[in-house]
Formats: sequence, C-alpha cells, structure tokens
Amino acid sequence: MEGFESVVSRLREEPRRWLVTGCAGFIGSNLVEQLLGLGQHVVGLDNFATGHRRNLDDVRHIVGEEGWSRFRFVEGDIRSLEVCREACAGVEVVLHQAALGSVPLSVDDPLTANQVNVDGFLHMLVAARDAGVRRFVYAASSAAYGDDPQPAKVEDSVGRPLSPYAVTKYVNELYAGVFERTYGLGTVGLRYFNVFGPRQDPEGAYAAVIPRWVGELLSGRRCVILGDGETSRDFCYVDDVVQANLLAAFATGEGVTGEVYNVAFGERTTLNQLFGMIRDSLVPYRPEVAGARPEYGDFRAGDIRHSQADISKARTRLGYRPEHTPRSGLARALPWYAENVGTGAAEPALASSP
Ligand SMILES: NC(=O)c1ccc[n+]([C@@H]2O[C@H](COP(=O)([O-])OP(=O)(O)OC[C@H]3O[C@@H](n4cnc5c(N)ncnc54)[C@H](O)[C@@H]3O)[C@@H](O)[C@H]2O)c1
Repeated sequence: MEGFESVVSRLREEPRRWLVTGCAGFIGSNLVEQLLGLGQHVVGLDNFATGHRRNLDDVRHIVGEEGWSRFRFVEGDIRSLEVCREACAGVEVVLHQAALGSVPLSVDDPLTANQVNVDGFLHMLVAARDAGVRRFVYAASSAAYGDDPQPAKVEDSVGRPLSPYAVTKYVNELYAGVFERTYGLGTVGLRYFNVFGPRQDPEGAYAAVIPRWVGELLSGRRCVILGDGETSRDFCYVDDVVQANLLAAFATGEGVTGEVYNVAFGERTTLNQLFGMIRDSLVPYRPEVAGARPEYGDFRAGDIRHSQADISKARTRLGYRPEHTPRSGLARALPWYAENVGTGAAEPALASSP
C-alpha cells in the first residue's frame, strides 16, 4: 500500500487528468487547490447551487496563473447527462463532490435533493463509465449510519436513515457498488464525517456549526447549542479529506474498490468542548469573547446523539493517516474564518482589543 507522501511525490512527477465536481464548494475547492498545487490538470464542474465563484477566485489567487492555466471550468448541472459527459471527456480520475449537502434542506425539499444527489450521481457514473475513467471516488456521508447505535461507526453496520439526504447518500453507495460489479468501474466511497476548514460556507440557514459559531462570536451574538451540549461529533479537518481522496484515487489491492470508507479524525468532540475550543482560539482576534457562554435550546428532532468513526478500514486499505486534531485544524482554519466570517476582525488583536 502506497502512503500519502509517496502518492504526492508520484503525482509531482506524473501529472494526471482529474475531474472535481462541486469544485466551487467547500471541499471541492480545497481538492482543486491541492491538485493544481501538485501540478495536475483539473476539470471542475459546478452550477453554483451552493458553491461560489469567490472560492474559485481564492484558489486562483493561491495557485497563481501557471497553476490556474491547468484548470478548465465547466459551468453546468449534474442533472444533465450531456454536461457530465462533457466534463468526463479525457479524465482519468473523478472526485465527485457535487451534491446538495444539507440535511435540513433535504427535509424541506426531498424532490430536489433526490434529483441532484441520486439522478445527478447516476449521470456521473454513466458518464465516467462511458469515458473510460480509471477511478471514481465520491463523497459519501456519515449520514448513512442513521440511527445505528454503535458508539464508533464501522462501515459494515448501518442503521435506518434519518433524512432524505441520508437516503440519497446511501443510494449512491449502492449504485457505485453495482457499477463496480456490473461494469468494472473502480469506485471508492468516502463517508465524510463533520468536515471543517477554509471556504466552508458561513452564510445561510443551513450553515455548518463551526463557521456559524465563529460568525456569531465575532459579531457579538450568542451561540445556540441545540440540546445539552453533550451531543458529540467527529470533526475532520479538510486537508485530511483531501488526503483520503488522493489515496483513494491510487490505492490498489484486493477489496480496495467497490467499497466505502469512513473519513474522519477518529475521535469524538462534544458541542460543549467545541464551543470552548472555538471561543479560546478567537480570543486573540476578539479578546471580549473570552467570557462568552452559549445558550441552550431544544434538541433537534432526528439528530443523532453521538457520531464517531472507526477509521481502521481507511487506515489499513487506503493508508489514511489523519494529521489534524479538531484543535489543530481550528488553529489552521481560523485566519480564514476571521477574515471571511462575521464582522471584520481580520487581524488578531494581540495587544490591544479592537
Ligand atoms: N461538509 C461536510 O461535513 C460533509 C459531510 C459529509 C458529506 N459531505 C459531502 O461532501 C460533498 C461536498 O460537500 P461540501 O461541504 O463541500 O458542500 P458545498 O455545498 O460547499 O459543495 C457542493 C458543491 O456542489 C455544487 N452543486 C450542487 N448541486 C449541483 C448540481 N446540480 N450540479 C453541479 N454542481 C452542483 C454546489 O454548487 C457546491 O459548489 C457533498 O457531496 C456532501 O454531501 C460533506
């Protein structure tokens, strides 16, 4: 099994042709940034449903004009098979991230969630198969575990799905398995847990908890914890998700493809602990947040109490080694959050408060 360092050095020597769907989104734009930084040729597909042009502008700024010249953007919708075919032409590896990723949104509008996440996914599989793509890596989700009561989630045991979103993501896995067995398309599903990092959307009703709390603390508002704060999640820094994708693109051996893998840090953090970590790391930016306390609201119906991943399968079969604890990931992400979230606390106020 090839380790991450070795995959990275091989890529630097032998550039490949990739397709990243959902490239204007949070995880997709981080994948594009890393791939272009490694000298790769990347096609990006997005329709800006939840992604942003500013994420692509940010990547362009980071990788520079030479890096950006290796990027081709297809603006389009995965609900069109023709668009998927156009994006897949000449591509060796697909990293499929495009989806409507929000649980509440899928509860509000299950039809659209299904059209994008299931029909769109199937279009991508068909287009990738017909284009002769070598490996199809896709974003699955810990939502697939549903009400599985095990404290540490193991890939083979899932419960009943708790939302339309969870159904769509689980159906993706079933289709990917069938395309592997029926057509020989090499598929790998990555069940992401709670991913965080730069370019995670801080806006809107469906924003994830970390950017939302950062924004609220920076603008002097109270953060609300739903429930007693002892609900826990496995928070995973986005660079570790990038690592898992690159490993999944090249991993070989018996039983590597046609499978799904947990991608997480592998530890649980309660919402109370997370709040404390975010507050403490924001003190250099806004000293007055030091005394901030959360408000507690009602538990949200359908929320799972604890979500933690057993990552041994990804470790042994893909060589996955997460490098960032939630705390160290937050430290890396905070400069971005502080500049892009909340009310203009762009610089740490080290000596004097703003
Ligand atoms: N962020 C997490 O914690 C997490 C956890 C589990 C799974 N996932 C999965 O990871 C993937 C990426 O999530 P993210 O957090 O980066 O979300 P995101 O919303 O930032 O990115 C999704 C991207 O897909 C694009 N998209 C949506 N519908 C599309 C369509 N019909 N055609 C083309 N593009 C479309 C959006 O515009 C957006 O740029 C999703 O599949 C999501 O379900 C994310």
